[in-house]
Amino acid sequence: MKRALITGVTGQDGSYLAELLLAKGYEVHGLARRTSTVNTARIAHLLADPHEPTTRFFLHRGDLSDGGRLLALLHEIRPDEVYNLAAESYVGASFEEPEHAGEAAGIGAVRLLEAVRRSGAGCRYYQAGSSEMYGAEPPPQSECTPLRPRSPYGAAKAYAHWLTTTYRESYGLHAVNGILFNHESPRRGEVFVTRKVTRAVARIQAGLDDFVYLGNLDAVRDWGYAPEYVEGMWRMLQADEPEDLVLATGESATVREFVAAAFDHAGLDWEKHVRFDQRYVRPAEVESLVGDASRAEERLGWKPRVRFAELVRIMVEADIRALRHEGRHWIDHPEVDGWG
Ligand code: GDD
Repeated sequence: MKRALITGVTGQDGSYLAELLLAKGYEVHGLARRTSTVNTARIAHLLADPHEPTTRFFLHRGDLSDGGRLLALLHEIRPDEVYNLAAESYVGASFEEPEHAGEAAGIGAVRLLEAVRRSGAGCRYYQAGSSEMYGAEPPPQSECTPLRPRSPYGAAKAYAHWLTTTYRESYGLHAVNGILFNHESPRRGEVFVTRKVTRAVARIQAGLDDFVYLGNLDAVRDWGYAPEYVEGMWRMLQADEPEDLVLATGESATVREFVAAAFDHAGLDWEKHVRFDQRYVRPAEVESLVGDASRAEERLGWKPRVRFAELVRIMVEADIRALRHEGRHWIDHPEVDGWG
């Protein structure tokens, strides 16, 4: 049985990746921060009694701020594959807390890489890179596009990207950078623009709210469906040779187009419900991210199937359902003590 360690397991991607690996027969270990409030909602349905002999999903307390803890965990778990998904992933917040962004997404990755190297576990390593690293470079962006980040988050991710490359070239680690364009789902955090909008659509349709406040509607993004992107992460680590690859749909839309499509799906006129708030405009904006994932298709046979219109439908309908059946949404699964 293969063993995997996922950092950031409580996030959107971490939860989908854990599901995918469990379905493939892996033993899955997740690293999650200790918090006083419950932060395991996305993985609550996977948690099981760690004493049961059939349990294959284990949570470990910790984060990327403690290199000693990471090394101890690698010795204990002896994973075959490590997926580093942990970070403060909201770009806007990284302008307010730039040191924290650098610590979590940048230095945190180095601590984990160093722990992997020192443990001698010989495991494969996946680094969650981001299209945000391309920043000011015009689209379409591919593996050949230079990195020109325009946010503390993007700069920290670029640092982690080059450190992963450095560890691969210096120590022969089987380490890859996945450069993922925006990927969304009903599990997307509520601060990101897609989920913020689809949640607002559900609430406005239900008469609970009248308006949603947004920033720059002109930004162009390439939005894919998160479950397909975690499949791409896994495929990257199965390749014989470690190679950095872009995952994207190649389809572009403005934030305004996403907003219009989401409201339209619920039979609402977006212009009556969307208001501008300067607070959501970033000090520097990444205007346009549209990826070219042809190399991933060629190397891994990876090709996204869910496109823009379908993604909007999935997310709007999930938020409408969640509101109608309060208490029965994925975030409301009963808590089980799955701490290992
Ligand atoms: N979040 C947010 N909230 N974004 C807004 C808003 C708003 O009210 N109004 C306009 N936007 C614009 C942002 O300025 C940005 O141009 C675009 O909507 C998308 O914002 P986000 O959904 O926050 O995502 P992101 O593109 O900044 O970053 C996401 O994708 C990266 C990959 O490209 C995050 O998931 C990152 O973690 C990821 O690395």
